[in-house]
Amino acid sequence: MSGIPGYRVERLPDPEAVGEDATLVEALRDEIRRDGPITFAQFMNRALYEPGHGYYRRAEPGPGPAGDFITAPEAHPIFGAAVGRLVAQAWDALGRPGPFRITEPGAGTGALATGLLGGLRDDASPMLDALRYRPLEVEPARLATLRARLAADRLDAHLADDRLPDERVEAGAVIVNEVLDALPVHRVVGRPEGLRELLVGLDGTGRFATVEAEPTTPRLAERLVLEGVVLEAGQVTEICLGIDAWLAGVANHLERGVVVLMDYAAEPAALHGAARPTGTLRAFARHAVGADPFRHVGRQDLTATVDLAAVRAAAARADLAPLGETTAGELLAAVGDDLPSRYLRREGASLQDALSLRSALARLLDPRGLGGFRVLVFGRGVPPDTRLDALRRIAKPSSGAR
Ligand SMILES: C[S@@+](CC[C@H](N)C(=O)[O-])C[C@H]1O[C@@H](n2cnc3c(N)ncnc32)[C@H](O)[C@@H]1O
Repeated sequence: MSGIPGYRVERLPDPEAVGEDATLVEALRDEIRRDGPITFAQFMNRALYEPGHGYYRRAEPGPGPAGDFITAPEAHPIFGAAVGRLVAQAWDALGRPGPFRITEPGAGTGALATGLLGGLRDDASPMLDALRYRPLEVEPARLATLRARLAADRLDAHLADDRLPDERVEAGAVIVNEVLDALPVHRVVGRPEGLRELLVGLDGTGRFATVEAEPTTPRLAERLVLEGVVLEAGQVTEICLGIDAWLAGVANHLERGVVVLMDYAAEPAALHGAARPTGTLRAFARHAVGADPFRHVGRQDLTATVDLAAVRAAAARADLAPLGETTAGELLAAVGDDLPSRYLRREGASLQDALSLRSALARLLDPRGLGGFRVLVFGRGVPPDTRLDALRRIAKPSSGAR
């Protein structure tokens, strides 16, 4: 059977089969036994990023049919092609500078890079001559897969020479898809006496368990106050404190250019509202979504819906001005009208290709699915009257969900 559009899957994958990283689990338990409960952000950081053991620090792919979930760029290269057109419009607005470097933190195995560069080639975009593409990954092993994927499509010549030092770039773009949702979050709960934090401790049998305590930092309550959020009694939510440092870091090399952030995200009122009493923390393993972060430690993805207000505030602090926002579906509709027929008329295109494209489009345009993913564009040194046509509104936005 074909379980995931566009891919042949012989059997439904079994999420239980992923197991857990026993070394990491033991290390975390030892640490908690020795030093006491840790914050959820510390737990999530280790579960995702511990070298050699964390979910993102293994060579196996996270996104993709053989992995645990499908991202928009993995669904079909048409998404990357649309992002390429958005960046090309920004390049135009900047006065077509050369060299122009696109940096992609969290480039994974190259789905976005392949769609974007392939789309620009099909467009015969003049930006390609100026372009140097620099993928960044927390897991270097994935970059080898990315290079091979680009080489198979004869797109690897556009890669930046990564032996050169990471010097400041005069002009460029930073594009990021589905990385913000994996930045470690603190968990908090509203109580009549005030905000409490949910730490990770051990129960009587030595298993991970949630432990309620005084907040480990006043920044948690400050964030909620800043966003005008008051939690109901018993309501749980997540707060990402790392967004400021992360965004400043990915954009610090850029003298002039744009930052494009794409993820499932929501406004604070919806994200921390009573309609979400247990928060948005989710786990993904083998295309199944789970709610227990303490299972499959190191072998399942952990993610929380991104707080749009926190991203905007972090951008302002990082000296990035808002250029506009849209959704993935809107972006595709705004710049991609002609793209489906291009993929269908490609030499050698099969019925299977046509069906894959159709089902990918259904998901990429669905405002309740991948199409509802938010696209936030910020600029530094961009002419103040810049209006990117790719960001024009076509329908009312909604927050997406993976
Ligand atoms: C959900 S996947 C998305 C991959 C790709 N952007 C896509 O949309 O298909 C997240 C990727 O980002 C990488 N990653 C996660 N956190 C990161 C960070 N802080 N910096 C750089 N890469 C990161 C992971 O290793 C993984 O390959």
